[in-house]
Amino acid sequence: MRIREFTEDDRDDVFRLRKVAFNGSPPDGPLLKAGSHGLLAEIDGRVAGVLTIGSFAQFYGGAAVPMGGIGGVAVDGSYRGRGIANALLDASLHTMREHGQPISALYPTVPTLYRRRGWEKAGVFEWVELPMDRLLSVPRPSERIDSRPVEKSDLPALHECYLEVARTVDGMADRRPPRIELDKVLELDVVTVLPGPHGLRGYLTATREPGEGLGRLKVQDLIGVDVDAQLTLLASLASWAGLLDAVDLRITDPTTVNLLGGTPLRYSVRTSTWMQRVVDLPAAVSARGWPRLADAVVDLEVVDEHAPWHAGLQRIVVEDGAVRVEPGGTGAVRMHARALGPWFSGAHSTHVLRRGGVLEGDPADAVLLDQLVASPGTPRLADFF
Ligand SMILES: CC(C)(COP(=O)(O)OP(=O)(O)OC[C@H]1O[C@@H](n2cnc3c(N)ncnc32)[C@H](O)[C@@H]1OP(=O)(O)O)[C@@H](O)C(=O)NCCC(=O)NCCS
Repeated sequence: MRIREFTEDDRDDVFRLRKVAFNGSPPDGPLLKAGSHGLLAEIDGRVAGVLTIGSFAQFYGGAAVPMGGIGGVAVDGSYRGRGIANALLDASLHTMREHGQPISALYPTVPTLYRRRGWEKAGVFEWVELPMDRLLSVPRPSERIDSRPVEKSDLPALHECYLEVARTVDGMADRRPPRIELDKVLELDVVTVLPGPHGLRGYLTATREPGEGLGRLKVQDLIGVDVDAQLTLLASLASWAGLLDAVDLRITDPTTVNLLGGTPLRYSVRTSTWMQRVVDLPAAVSARGWPRLADAVVDLEVVDEHAPWHAGLQRIVVEDGAVRVEPGGTGAVRMHARALGPWFSGAHSTHVLRRGGVLEGDPADAVLLDQLVASPGTPRLADFF
């Protein structure tokens, strides 16, 4: 088997595999978006498998950490079950490391495949259904903010407004061009902006979707940098009452649904999970934002046969408010590759990782790991009263 990067010349072979696997049709544009890389596996000169690595960055602790987004993993039906996907994923780790992407994320259709290569579930992507009566019960803003339709010249301010919120929500992408084309926003059916004293206070983007009855409004982003901006945008959704069956809201900012929306005891959420993998621990730690903690160390033994460059004894050092990884230490906390992603994202505490069999050692030695990510995940209750 030979693995190499694919180019535009491989377009037909790549789309043949993707079509069979995902039933998709080729896009009009180039095979690879700006900054992306594609890997292809050949057997006897035949293209047997492909994957792509998109160039993104996720906010963690307020810093945008470069992330390789794996997608389009497809192996020819005649070649499945002989390690081609495994080989492509192993090669992708080298490619991401080479291109300065210390973390990776993907939406898995086959979690087992990725787990064995060190990715683990580390976050959610959610859509909430908002029936119209619930939107009508949302409180009015205390201040009137006049909205207007977007203009092309608003795009940088719109991105800035998004960033103001996104950099405070761990895991969110920074949507930086050229990977994300800001102009695409102008193609959406509804793009409303709330002008503020410095740029935009908020904006809403949505598409009108047909349905069995009146149809729905799919809100891609509802972003407001303060309470009144968010309430103004929620109120603008209520103005659609009588014209829609419901609004589907993509959760960009958890504040909207959790603190401001009229969502009662039970509501419908569509959740997709994404998996994360730390490709290069020292680089990932240096790229992330961290809270200011007193000087301390935690000694790790990283078990990661697929990324030998960071496997073995590693010490996380907190010194003078900065955090770094250096080789050595006692290896008091044993972390398997799969533990690194959900720890880094803050999705799971070390207690959960321990019960999942991917972290071992004295719990007292692992405390600093929880303090560092300072994010206990989504709080939950499993008893009803
Ligand atoms: C999923 C797919 C990429 C696997 O390719 P493959 O070359 O057959 O996979 P490999 O032979 O390298 O197997 C990798 C591992 O994943 C496991 N695996 C593969 N397909 C699996 C499946 N559908 N369900 C559960 N485990 C699976 C294998 O058992 C193997 O485990 P091992 O390493 O412990 O032996 C291939 O079946 C495919 O193209 N499917 C259609 C497209 C798709 O679903 N892509 C995934 C998008 S996220």
